[in-house]
Amino acid sequence: MNLLVVDDEVELGSVVATEVAKVLAAAEFATLGLATGSTPQPAYRALIQMCRDGELSLANNNAFLLDEYFGLPASHYESFAATIQRDFVHGVDFPNGTVKSLDGMTDNAAATCLDYEHAIQASGGIDVQLLGIGRNGHIAFNEPGSALDSRTRMVELTQETIAVNGAANFDQFQPTHALTMGVGTILEGRYLIMMASGPAKATAVQQALEGPVDSACPASAVQTHENVLVVLDRAAAAQLS
Ligand code: F6R
Repeated sequence: MNLLVVDDEVELGSVVATEVAKVLAAAEFATLGLATGSTPQPAYRALIQMCRDGELSLANNNAFLLDEYFGLPASHYESFAATIQRDFVHGVDFPNGTVKSLDGMTDNAAATCLDYEHAIQASGGIDVQLLGIGRNGHIAFNEPGSALDSRTRMVELTQETIAVNGAANFDQFQPTHALTMGVGTILEGRYLIMMASGPAKATAVQQALEGPVDSACPASAVQTHENVLVVLDRAAAAQLS
């Protein structure tokens, strides 16, 4: 595992965007795995800037989102599908329809999740997977207790995750469940880039990187992957030995 501790968000964004650009430059066609949430925002801004400056194109690429709230249509402002569109996709040049997300309105979650796994495989697998980490050690919506070989599935969200994500305040919608790529699905990505910033992540980061590989901290599974870059700001790295 490679670990980089950076000074601030701008540097975090620039390091991650540079890594993503390297993977894209080396492949004729590459598949990205995208995280939503606040942590990857600087990286998305940096990637958008690279596209605007003509240094990068995503015209030969596609992407899969990690997760989605169950019961929320993609058209809802708070859905991850809508969020990634606003935060990233609108500013880059993925071909239309090539950024896929889990259907939060499905009436057959098991089939939807299996289809998602098949779609990832059909696209050749994920070349570079961006990951944040939850304060409780979750990756995607794999909450503590998730099996480290879990696959894409419906999960119940913890009250903490619902509160931290501000999801309790969504307009006329209270999420209790989500669809998420599994830990095992994520580990099949060829290159994982995990990011964390801010003091609220310091304990989870320490457990994930220095604690036992254990489903109590799903992010600890990254220790078992042979091609991982972890990019932290100083506050998130503060509890590392
Ligand atoms: C979002 C996701 C989550 C977030 C995590 C951290 O797609 O998969 O695991 O990465 O909750 O969220 P932020 O970055 O908002 O602190």
